[in-house]
Amino acid sequence: MSLSVPARFAIVIPCFNEAPNVAPMVERVAAALEGVAWEAVFVDDDSPDGTAAAARAIAALDPRVRCIRRIGRRGLASACIEGWLASSAPFLAVIDGDLQHDERLLPRMLEALEQGAEMVVGSRHVAGGAAEGGFSPFRARLSRAGTALAAAVLPVRVSDPMSGFFALSRPVFEEAAPRLTGTGFKILLDLLLTLRRPVRLVELPYEFRAREAGESKLDATVMLEFLGLLADKALGGWVPLRFLAFALVGGAGVLVHLAALGVLHGLLSVPFGAAQWGATFCAMTVNFWLNNQVTYRDRRLRGPRLWQGLALFYAVCGIGAAANVGVAALLVRDGVLAWGLAGAAGAALTVVWNFAMSSTLVWR
Ligand code: GDD
Ligand code: MN
Repeated sequence: MSLSVPARFAIVIPCFNEAPNVAPMVERVAAALEGVAWEAVFVDDDSPDGTAAAARAIAALDPRVRCIRRIGRRGLASACIEGWLASSAPFLAVIDGDLQHDERLLPRMLEALEQGAEMVVGSRHVAGGAAEGGFSPFRARLSRAGTALAAAVLPVRVSDPMSGFFALSRPVFEEAAPRLTGTGFKILLDLLLTLRRPVRLVELPYEFRAREAGESKLDATVMLEFLGLLADKALGGWVPLRFLAFALVGGAGVLVHLAALGVLHGLLSVPFGAAQWGATFCAMTVNFWLNNQVTYRDRRLRGPRLWQGLALFYAVCGIGAAANVGVAALLVRDGVLAWGLAGAAGAALTVVWNFAMSSTLVWR
Protein backbone atom coordinates (compact mmCIF):
# COMPACT_ATOMS: atom_id res chain seq x y z
CA MET A 1 0.00 0.00 0.00
CA SER A 2 1.24 3.46 -0.85
CA LEU A 3 1.71 6.20 1.69
CA SER A 4 -0.78 8.92 0.92
CA VAL A 5 0.56 12.19 -0.40
CA PRO A 6 -1.53 15.16 -1.50
CA ALA A 7 -2.86 14.44 -4.97
CA ARG A 8 -1.54 16.59 -7.80
CA PHE A 9 -3.83 15.17 -10.48
CA ALA A 10 -7.43 14.22 -9.71
CA ILE A 11 -9.11 11.86 -12.15
CA VAL A 12 -12.88 11.99 -11.85
CA ILE A 13 -14.62 8.88 -13.12
CA PRO A 14 -18.38 9.25 -13.57
CA CYS A 15 -20.10 5.89 -13.37
CA PHE A 16 -23.51 4.45 -13.79
CA ASN A 17 -23.72 0.67 -13.80
CA GLU A 18 -20.02 0.14 -14.41
CA ALA A 19 -19.26 -2.36 -11.63
CA PRO A 20 -17.21 -4.76 -13.78
CA ASN A 21 -15.15 -1.86 -15.15
CA VAL A 22 -14.11 -0.33 -11.84
CA ALA A 23 -11.13 -2.54 -10.97
CA PRO A 24 -9.62 -2.54 -14.50
CA MET A 25 -10.08 1.22 -14.57
CA VAL A 26 -8.04 1.74 -11.41
CA GLU A 27 -5.34 -0.62 -12.65
CA ARG A 28 -5.07 1.22 -15.95
CA VAL A 29 -4.97 4.65 -14.35
CA ALA A 30 -2.34 3.49 -11.87
CA ALA A 31 -0.21 2.04 -14.65
CA ALA A 32 -0.54 5.14 -16.83
CA LEU A 33 0.25 7.58 -14.00
CA GLU A 34 3.16 5.71 -12.44
CA GLY A 35 5.26 8.23 -10.51
CA VAL A 36 2.51 10.90 -10.38
CA ALA A 37 0.59 11.74 -7.19
CA TRP A 38 -2.87 11.01 -8.57
CA GLU A 39 -6.23 10.34 -7.03
CA ALA A 40 -9.27 8.70 -8.60
CA VAL A 41 -12.70 9.93 -7.61
CA PHE A 42 -15.52 7.66 -8.73
CA VAL A 43 -18.84 9.48 -8.83
CA ASP A 44 -21.65 6.96 -8.88
CA ASP A 45 -25.34 7.75 -9.02
CA ASP A 46 -26.42 4.89 -6.81
CA SER A 47 -26.15 2.30 -9.61
CA PRO A 48 -28.22 -0.80 -8.93
CA ASP A 49 -25.34 -3.03 -10.06
CA GLY A 50 -23.15 -2.20 -7.06
CA THR A 51 -20.66 0.13 -8.74
CA ALA A 52 -20.18 2.08 -5.51
CA ALA A 53 -19.45 -1.09 -3.54
CA ALA A 54 -16.88 -2.11 -6.14
CA ALA A 55 -15.17 1.28 -5.86
CA ARG A 56 -15.25 1.21 -2.06
CA ALA A 57 -13.70 -2.24 -1.97
CA ILE A 58 -10.69 -0.81 -3.80
CA ALA A 59 -10.72 2.41 -1.77
CA ALA A 60 -10.44 0.31 1.38
CA LEU A 61 -7.02 -0.85 0.20
CA ASP A 62 -5.80 2.17 -1.75
CA PRO A 63 -6.11 5.68 -0.29
CA ARG A 64 -5.73 7.20 -3.76
CA VAL A 65 -9.18 5.91 -4.65
CA ARG A 66 -12.41 7.47 -3.40
CA CYS A 67 -16.07 7.11 -4.14
CA ILE A 68 -18.88 9.64 -4.04
CA ARG A 69 -22.26 7.98 -4.10
CA ARG A 70 -25.11 10.31 -4.97
CA ILE A 71 -28.60 9.22 -4.10
CA GLY A 72 -31.69 10.29 -6.06
CA ARG A 73 -29.58 12.07 -8.67
CA ARG A 74 -28.56 11.41 -12.26
CA GLY A 75 -26.29 13.18 -14.67
CA LEU A 76 -22.84 12.90 -16.16
CA ALA A 77 -22.05 16.64 -16.14
CA SER A 78 -23.07 17.24 -12.55
CA ALA A 79 -21.17 14.11 -11.51
CA CYS A 80 -17.96 15.61 -12.95
CA ILE A 81 -18.54 18.94 -11.25
CA GLU A 82 -19.14 17.35 -7.88
CA GLY A 83 -16.11 15.09 -8.26
CA TRP A 84 -13.83 18.03 -8.96
CA LEU A 85 -15.36 20.03 -6.13
CA ALA A 86 -14.58 17.16 -3.78
CA SER A 87 -10.89 17.26 -4.71
CA SER A 88 -8.16 19.72 -3.78
CA ALA A 89 -5.73 18.75 -6.53
CA PRO A 90 -4.36 21.59 -8.71
CA PHE A 91 -4.97 19.60 -11.90
CA LEU A 92 -8.20 17.85 -12.78
CA ALA A 93 -9.40 15.39 -15.38
CA VAL A 94 -12.46 13.39 -16.31
CA ILE A 95 -12.45 10.00 -17.97
CA ASP A 96 -15.36 7.67 -18.68
CA GLY A 97 -15.67 4.70 -16.35
CA ASP A 98 -16.32 2.24 -19.18
CA LEU A 99 -12.73 1.99 -20.51
CA GLN A 100 -13.67 3.66 -23.82
CA HIS A 101 -11.21 6.51 -23.29
CA ASP A 102 -7.48 5.87 -23.59
CA GLU A 103 -6.02 6.41 -20.13
CA ARG A 104 -2.50 6.45 -21.59
CA LEU A 105 -3.24 10.02 -22.60
CA LEU A 106 -3.46 11.13 -18.96
CA PRO A 107 0.27 11.75 -18.36
CA ARG A 108 0.49 13.88 -21.49
CA MET A 109 -2.58 15.81 -20.42
CA LEU A 110 -0.94 16.55 -17.08
CA GLU A 111 2.28 17.57 -18.80
CA ALA A 112 0.44 20.05 -21.03
CA LEU A 113 -1.32 21.54 -17.99
CA GLU A 114 1.97 21.89 -16.16
CA GLN A 115 3.35 23.70 -19.17
CA GLY A 116 0.59 26.28 -18.94
CA ALA A 117 -2.37 24.92 -20.90
CA GLU A 118 -5.66 25.71 -19.19
CA MET A 119 -7.50 22.82 -20.82
CA VAL A 120 -6.36 19.69 -22.60
CA VAL A 121 -8.97 17.89 -24.66
CA GLY A 122 -8.73 14.30 -25.82
CA SER A 123 -9.89 14.60 -29.41
CA ARG A 124 -11.17 12.01 -31.85
CA HIS A 125 -11.07 14.50 -34.68
CA VAL A 126 -7.47 15.74 -34.86
CA ALA A 127 -4.86 13.82 -36.83
CA GLY A 128 -4.25 10.53 -35.09
CA GLY A 129 -7.60 10.45 -33.32
CA ALA A 130 -10.46 8.15 -34.21
CA ALA A 131 -13.95 7.23 -33.10
CA GLU A 132 -14.83 4.48 -35.55
CA GLY A 133 -14.26 1.66 -33.09
CA GLY A 134 -16.58 3.07 -30.45
CA PHE A 135 -19.53 4.32 -32.47
CA SER A 136 -22.38 2.89 -34.51
CA PRO A 137 -22.94 4.73 -37.83
CA PHE A 138 -25.99 6.42 -36.33
CA ARG A 139 -24.07 7.62 -33.27
CA ALA A 140 -21.26 8.83 -35.52
CA ARG A 141 -23.70 10.94 -37.56
CA LEU A 142 -25.33 12.26 -34.39
CA SER A 143 -21.95 13.14 -32.96
CA ARG A 144 -21.00 15.04 -36.13
CA ALA A 145 -24.26 17.00 -36.08
CA GLY A 146 -23.75 17.90 -32.43
CA THR A 147 -20.17 18.93 -33.11
CA ALA A 148 -21.19 21.26 -35.94
CA LEU A 149 -23.90 22.81 -33.78
CA ALA A 150 -21.49 23.31 -30.90
CA ALA A 151 -18.76 24.78 -33.11
CA ALA A 152 -21.21 27.47 -34.21
CA VAL A 153 -21.64 28.78 -30.67
CA LEU A 154 -18.19 28.25 -29.12
CA PRO A 155 -15.75 31.06 -28.29
CA VAL A 156 -12.72 28.86 -29.08
CA ARG A 157 -11.89 26.44 -31.83
CA VAL A 158 -12.08 22.85 -30.65
CA SER A 159 -12.23 19.98 -33.06
CA ASP A 160 -14.04 17.72 -30.59
CA PRO A 161 -16.21 19.85 -28.29
CA MET A 162 -18.34 16.78 -27.49
CA SER A 163 -15.42 14.98 -25.96
CA GLY A 164 -15.99 13.57 -22.52
CA PHE A 165 -12.28 13.03 -21.97
CA PHE A 166 -10.28 16.11 -20.96
CA ALA A 167 -8.25 17.80 -18.24
CA LEU A 168 -8.16 21.32 -16.85
CA SER A 169 -6.38 23.39 -14.25
CA ARG A 170 -8.15 24.16 -11.01
CA PRO A 171 -8.28 27.97 -11.47
CA VAL A 172 -10.14 27.52 -14.75
CA PHE A 173 -12.59 25.14 -13.15
CA GLU A 174 -13.11 27.46 -10.17
CA GLU A 175 -13.67 30.38 -12.54
CA ALA A 176 -16.51 28.56 -14.28
CA ALA A 177 -17.91 26.52 -11.38
CA PRO A 178 -20.45 29.02 -10.01
CA ARG A 179 -22.09 29.43 -13.42
CA LEU A 180 -22.09 25.89 -14.83
CA THR A 181 -25.51 24.50 -15.67
CA GLY A 182 -24.47 20.92 -14.91
CA THR A 183 -27.20 19.53 -17.20
CA GLY A 184 -26.77 16.59 -19.49
CA PHE A 185 -23.67 14.87 -20.83
CA LYS A 186 -21.58 17.68 -22.25
CA ILE A 187 -19.57 19.12 -19.40
CA LEU A 188 -16.78 20.35 -21.70
CA LEU A 189 -19.25 22.39 -23.72
CA ASP A 190 -20.79 23.69 -20.51
CA LEU A 191 -17.33 24.83 -19.34
CA LEU A 192 -16.36 26.47 -22.64
CA LEU A 193 -19.67 28.28 -23.00
CA THR A 194 -19.54 29.41 -19.39
CA LEU A 195 -15.97 30.75 -19.54
CA ARG A 196 -16.85 32.83 -22.61
CA ARG A 197 -13.22 33.61 -23.34
CA PRO A 198 -10.57 31.95 -25.46
CA VAL A 199 -8.85 29.57 -23.05
CA ARG A 200 -5.36 28.22 -23.70
CA LEU A 201 -6.50 24.90 -25.05
CA VAL A 202 -4.51 21.95 -26.34
CA GLU A 203 -5.96 18.96 -28.16
CA LEU A 204 -4.42 15.53 -28.07
CA PRO A 205 -5.57 12.78 -30.42
CA TYR A 206 -6.83 9.48 -29.09
CA GLU A 207 -8.78 6.56 -30.34
CA PHE A 208 -12.27 6.06 -28.90
CA ARG A 209 -12.52 2.39 -28.00
CA ALA A 210 -15.50 0.09 -28.23
CA ARG A 211 -17.29 -0.59 -24.98
CA GLU A 212 -16.47 -3.98 -23.48
CA ALA A 213 -18.96 -4.32 -20.64
CA GLY A 214 -22.23 -2.60 -19.79
CA GLU A 215 -24.11 -0.23 -22.07
CA SER A 216 -24.22 3.43 -23.12
CA LYS A 217 -26.55 5.73 -21.18
CA LEU A 218 -26.93 8.22 -24.02
CA ASP A 219 -30.62 8.37 -24.92
CA ALA A 220 -33.23 10.80 -26.23
CA THR A 221 -33.37 12.63 -22.91
CA VAL A 222 -29.63 13.18 -22.97
CA MET A 223 -29.90 14.68 -26.46
CA LEU A 224 -32.71 16.96 -25.33
CA GLU A 225 -30.54 18.06 -22.45
CA PHE A 226 -27.80 18.87 -24.94
CA LEU A 227 -30.11 21.23 -26.83
CA GLY A 228 -31.23 22.61 -23.49
CA LEU A 229 -27.65 23.38 -22.53
CA LEU A 230 -27.09 25.30 -25.78
CA ALA A 231 -30.35 27.20 -25.32
CA ASP A 232 -29.52 28.03 -21.73
CA LYS A 233 -26.13 29.42 -22.66
CA ALA A 234 -27.55 31.30 -25.66
CA LEU A 235 -29.88 33.05 -23.24
CA GLY A 236 -26.98 33.88 -20.93
CA GLY A 237 -28.41 31.66 -18.18
CA TRP A 238 -31.16 34.19 -17.47
CA VAL A 239 -34.11 31.99 -18.31
CA PRO A 240 -34.30 28.77 -16.29
CA LEU A 241 -34.11 25.72 -18.55
CA ARG A 242 -37.15 24.18 -16.94
CA PHE A 243 -39.18 27.26 -17.76
CA LEU A 244 -37.98 27.14 -21.35
CA ALA A 245 -39.06 23.51 -21.64
CA PHE A 246 -42.40 24.35 -20.04
CA ALA A 247 -42.99 27.22 -22.46
CA LEU A 248 -42.05 25.05 -25.47
CA VAL A 249 -44.44 22.35 -24.30
CA GLY A 250 -47.07 25.09 -23.95
CA GLY A 251 -46.40 26.10 -27.55
CA ALA A 252 -46.87 22.52 -28.66
CA GLY A 253 -50.13 22.56 -26.68
CA VAL A 254 -51.44 25.42 -28.82
CA LEU A 255 -50.84 23.33 -31.93
CA VAL A 256 -52.59 20.33 -30.35
CA HIS A 257 -55.49 22.59 -29.45
CA LEU A 258 -55.87 23.87 -33.00
CA ALA A 259 -55.58 20.38 -34.47
CA ALA A 260 -58.20 19.00 -32.08
CA LEU A 261 -60.48 21.94 -32.81
CA GLY A 262 -60.09 21.27 -36.52
CA VAL A 263 -61.08 17.64 -36.08
CA LEU A 264 -63.96 18.23 -33.66
CA HIS A 265 -65.52 21.35 -35.15
CA GLY A 266 -64.32 21.30 -38.73
CA LEU A 267 -64.55 17.60 -39.45
CA LEU A 268 -67.07 16.21 -36.98
CA SER A 269 -69.24 19.38 -36.83
CA VAL A 270 -69.26 19.46 -33.04
CA PRO A 271 -70.64 22.89 -32.01
CA PHE A 272 -67.85 25.42 -31.53
CA GLY A 273 -68.24 25.88 -27.78
CA ALA A 274 -68.18 22.16 -27.05
CA ALA A 275 -65.34 21.62 -29.53
CA GLN A 276 -63.34 24.32 -27.71
CA TRP A 277 -63.80 22.47 -24.44
CA GLY A 278 -62.77 19.18 -26.01
CA ALA A 279 -59.72 20.75 -27.65
CA THR A 280 -58.74 22.41 -24.36
CA PHE A 281 -58.77 19.07 -22.56
CA CYS A 282 -56.78 17.44 -25.35
CA ALA A 283 -54.15 20.15 -25.17
CA MET A 284 -53.95 20.07 -21.36
CA THR A 285 -53.63 16.29 -21.35
CA VAL A 286 -50.86 16.28 -23.97
CA ASN A 287 -49.10 19.11 -22.13
CA PHE A 288 -49.30 17.21 -18.88
CA TRP A 289 -47.81 14.12 -20.49
CA LEU A 290 -44.99 16.05 -22.19
CA ASN A 291 -44.15 17.96 -19.05
CA ASN A 292 -44.09 14.72 -17.12
CA GLN A 293 -41.73 13.19 -19.71
CA VAL A 294 -39.44 16.14 -20.34
CA THR A 295 -39.83 19.25 -18.20
CA TYR A 296 -40.11 17.41 -14.91
CA ARG A 297 -38.43 14.15 -15.93
CA ASP A 298 -36.44 14.20 -12.69
CA ARG A 299 -39.66 14.36 -10.64
CA ARG A 300 -41.75 12.17 -12.95
CA LEU A 301 -45.15 11.17 -11.54
CA ARG A 302 -46.16 7.53 -11.73
CA GLY A 303 -49.01 5.30 -10.55
CA PRO A 304 -51.78 6.93 -8.47
CA ARG A 305 -49.79 10.15 -8.15
CA LEU A 306 -50.01 10.47 -11.94
CA TRP A 307 -53.80 10.81 -11.85
CA GLN A 308 -53.72 13.14 -8.87
CA GLY A 309 -51.18 15.25 -10.72
CA LEU A 310 -53.31 15.33 -13.87
CA ALA A 311 -56.38 16.51 -11.94
CA LEU A 312 -54.32 19.22 -10.25
CA PHE A 313 -52.82 20.23 -13.59
CA TYR A 314 -56.31 20.67 -15.08
CA ALA A 315 -57.22 22.90 -12.15
CA VAL A 316 -54.04 24.97 -12.42
CA CYS A 317 -54.46 25.45 -16.17
CA GLY A 318 -58.14 26.28 -15.74
CA ILE A 319 -57.31 29.12 -13.38
CA GLY A 320 -54.48 30.16 -15.69
CA ALA A 321 -56.85 30.34 -18.66
CA ALA A 322 -59.39 32.38 -16.68
CA ALA A 323 -56.61 34.80 -15.68
CA ASN A 324 -55.49 35.02 -19.29
CA VAL A 325 -58.92 35.99 -20.55
CA GLY A 326 -59.60 38.29 -17.60
CA VAL A 327 -56.35 40.24 -17.76
CA ALA A 328 -56.50 40.65 -21.53
CA ALA A 329 -60.10 41.91 -21.28
CA LEU A 330 -59.16 44.43 -18.60
CA LEU A 331 -56.17 45.73 -20.55
CA VAL A 332 -58.30 46.22 -23.64
CA ARG A 333 -61.24 47.75 -21.77
CA ASP A 334 -59.04 50.31 -20.01
CA GLY A 335 -57.35 51.09 -23.31
CA VAL A 336 -53.92 50.13 -21.88
CA LEU A 337 -53.02 47.90 -24.82
CA ALA A 338 -54.30 47.05 -28.27
CA TRP A 339 -56.03 43.65 -28.44
CA GLY A 340 -53.03 41.83 -29.92
CA LEU A 341 -50.67 42.99 -27.19
CA ALA A 342 -53.29 42.46 -24.50
CA GLY A 343 -53.74 38.89 -25.70
CA ALA A 344 -49.98 38.30 -25.61
CA ALA A 345 -49.73 39.78 -22.11
CA GLY A 346 -52.55 37.51 -20.95
CA ALA A 347 -50.87 34.46 -22.48
CA ALA A 348 -47.48 35.32 -20.93
CA LEU A 349 -49.13 35.72 -17.54
CA THR A 350 -50.76 32.31 -17.96
CA VAL A 351 -47.49 30.58 -18.82
CA VAL A 352 -45.78 32.06 -15.77
CA TRP A 353 -48.72 31.17 -13.52
CA ASN A 354 -48.99 27.62 -14.88
CA PHE A 355 -45.26 27.14 -14.52
CA ALA A 356 -45.11 28.43 -10.96
CA MET A 357 -48.06 26.29 -9.87
CA SER A 358 -46.85 23.20 -11.76
CA SER A 359 -43.43 23.47 -10.15
CA THR A 360 -44.75 23.91 -6.64
CA LEU A 361 -48.02 21.93 -6.58
CA VAL A 362 -48.09 19.33 -9.36
CA TRP A 363 -44.45 18.21 -9.64
CA ARG A 364 -43.29 18.93 -6.11
N1 GDD B 1 -22.51 9.36 -12.28
C1 GDD B 1 -23.06 9.20 -13.48
N2 GDD B 1 -24.36 9.55 -13.65
N3 GDD B 1 -22.34 8.68 -14.49
C2 GDD B 1 -22.94 8.53 -15.68
C3 GDD B 1 -24.28 8.88 -15.92
C4 GDD B 1 -25.02 9.42 -14.84
O1 GDD B 1 -26.19 9.77 -14.94
N4 GDD B 1 -24.58 8.60 -17.22
C5 GDD B 1 -23.46 8.08 -17.76
N5 GDD B 1 -22.48 8.02 -16.83
C6 GDD B 1 -21.12 7.50 -17.00
C7 GDD B 1 -21.06 6.14 -17.62
O2 GDD B 1 -21.13 5.12 -16.64
C8 GDD B 1 -19.72 6.18 -18.32
O3 GDD B 1 -18.68 5.90 -17.43
C9 GDD B 1 -19.61 7.63 -18.75
O4 GDD B 1 -20.46 8.38 -17.89
C10 GDD B 1 -20.01 7.83 -20.23
O5 GDD B 1 -21.31 7.36 -20.41
P1 GDD B 1 -21.69 6.39 -21.62
O6 GDD B 1 -23.11 6.06 -21.43
O7 GDD B 1 -20.70 5.30 -21.76
O8 GDD B 1 -21.54 7.43 -22.79
P2 GDD B 1 -21.19 7.19 -24.32
O9 GDD B 1 -20.11 6.20 -24.49
O10 GDD B 1 -22.42 7.01 -25.09
O11 GDD B 1 -20.67 8.67 -24.65
C11 GDD B 1 -19.36 8.96 -24.72
O12 GDD B 1 -19.09 9.72 -25.85
C12 GDD B 1 -19.36 11.07 -25.76
C13 GDD B 1 -18.79 11.67 -26.97
O13 GDD B 1 -19.75 11.81 -27.94
C14 GDD B 1 -18.83 9.62 -23.46
O14 GDD B 1 -17.43 9.60 -23.55
C15 GDD B 1 -19.17 11.02 -23.30
O15 GDD B 1 -18.48 11.54 -22.17
C16 GDD B 1 -18.73 11.70 -24.54
O16 GDD B 1 -19.09 13.04 -24.45
MN1 MN C 1 -19.29 4.94 -23.17
